[in-house]
Amino acid sequence: MKLNPFKNLLRIFVYKAMGFTAFSIKKSSYWLETIQMKAYLKSLHLNNVGKIFSYTTPEELRTLFILARSCPANSTALEIGSHLGASACYIGAGLNWIDGKLLCVDTWQNDTVPEGARDTFDEFKKNTSAINNLITPIRKRSENLTSTDILTMLHLVFIDGDHSYAAAKKDLEIITPWVVDGGIVALHDSIFFEGVSKTLGEALASGDWQLAGNIQNLTWLRKVSKNRTEFAFKIEQPKIVEISNSAR
Ligand SMILES: C[S@@+](CC[C@H](N)C(=O)[O-])C[C@H]1O[C@@H](n2cnc3c(N)ncnc32)[C@H](O)[C@@H]1O
Repeated sequence: MKLNPFKNLLRIFVYKAMGFTAFSIKKSSYWLETIQMKAYLKSLHLNNVGKIFSYTTPEELRTLFILARSCPANSTALEIGSHLGASACYIGAGLNWIDGKLLCVDTWQNDTVPEGARDTFDEFKKNTSAINNLITPIRKRSENLTSTDILTMLHLVFIDGDHSYAAAKKDLEIITPWVVDGGIVALHDSIFFEGVSKTLGEALASGDWQLAGNIQNLTWLRKVSKNRTEFAFKIEQPKIVEISNSAR
């Protein structure tokens, strides 16, 4: 059959236009969500959060905000490795949305950080002061955490401490009994660090965790429910648009 060149051109034009419209809608809803998040951070007096030094990218921080905001009302989240407080501010803001609380665990001695040992606790406290009403700092090594530090079940855990295989595995093992069915555990440096990747792979192979999402170097898992077919809560899937780091 001979193709009509005009019809063929028209078809290509329509497909391109449809693709462009879909991309524009996706991009504008992404920007709207980002503007909404920035306004919310500002309302909490966290407008300087973008200036806090962090190894976590703006896109990953934005995702942590969305994961925290998706938790049920009054949830508690745990962060292992808070450093100067950048990720704690985004998670804390998301939790403030749902009247939640955040436990932050760190030695605040810069363990395993390329910069080398120094006390970062005062900087953490200063950077997170606007939301210190919902943050409880727990100054200890994560492997020494006990249930008396946590005291409640967790809906969200962000693991960003020591990225060696032994430490990442231990962190996941320790927190697992404290996570609700359907709860989320996000691991940072899941691509750059072999130890974190291996921990993730083993967690999935165990059948106790299901892959729930990934953006850049952040991967999150959902705890598989043993007793129910329904998950305890639904996590909003962060919108993904490839953009520059200036979105922060
Ligand atoms: C990469 S930084 C965390 C960055 C932070 N989450 C952010 O996004 O800005 C790693 C932090 O983990 C802490 N850390 C490393 N090993 C630890 C351990 N075994 N127990 C507690 N904290 C640890 C370090 O002191 C450091 O502050």
